[in-house]
Amino acid sequence: MSDLLVRLYDLPVSEAEPRLAASGITIRRALPPERGLIATWVEQHFHSLWASEVAVAMSQHPMTTWVAVKDGELLGFACHDATAKGFFGPTGVAESARGQGVGEALLLATLRGMREAGYAYAVIGDPGPVAFYLKRLDAMVIPKSSPGIYRGMLRPAAPSPANTD
Ligand SMILES: CC(C)(COP(=O)(O)OP(=O)(O)OC[C@H]1O[C@@H](n2cnc3c(N)ncnc32)[C@H](O)[C@@H]1OP(=O)(O)O)[C@@H](O)C(=O)NCCC(=O)NCCS
Repeated sequence: MSDLLVRLYDLPVSEAEPRLAASGITIRRALPPERGLIATWVEQHFHSLWASEVAVAMSQHPMTTWVAVKDGELLGFACHDATAKGFFGPTGVAESARGQGVGEALLLATLRGMREAGYAYAVIGDPGPVAFYLKRLDAMVIPKSSPGIYRGMLRPAAPSPANTD
């Protein structure tokens, strides 16, 4: 899937953030003591490749990872500067928390973080649900960017027939 380019000097205001705040959902930068918990959560809810990426984002100072939290429970995460400098992602919301604006709020909070860190543009690498990004962002597809930086990347092997029990 081709990468997307986002103008960080032209970000929309999040419609979801005030609504989430009123319902007790906080969107904020992750804290270093949360690093292990977040990495485990990402691996359990998504997969090991994303856990590796978020581990890199959580190794920066300040951490380039944002979280959505309600009543001490992690609902979602988003990060930047993981696979490459200037890249947004990965991001993910727990299935049970989807459809209420958490993904949008994490996306816009993280992109604002990138703008504050001095970037003028963000790249959304291998974006997956492009329609989700294009709902709120006036992003453009970067020509000839697939597979882009991920070309030749090692991936976990599919289980062999002998190990599928
Ligand atoms: C993509 C994801 C982060 C969206 O999280 P979410 O909290 O459900 O999203 P929101 O509720 O903020 O949705 C914001 C808007 O995007 C739309 N949207 C959400 N997921 C979408 C998808 N997969 N495709 C198209 N549109 C989507 C919503 O309908 C909503 O639009 P609306 O306000 O007009 O109704 C979540 O579905 C997820 O974790 N998916 C699996 C991981 C993934 O694909 N991550 C992205 C690649 S790194």
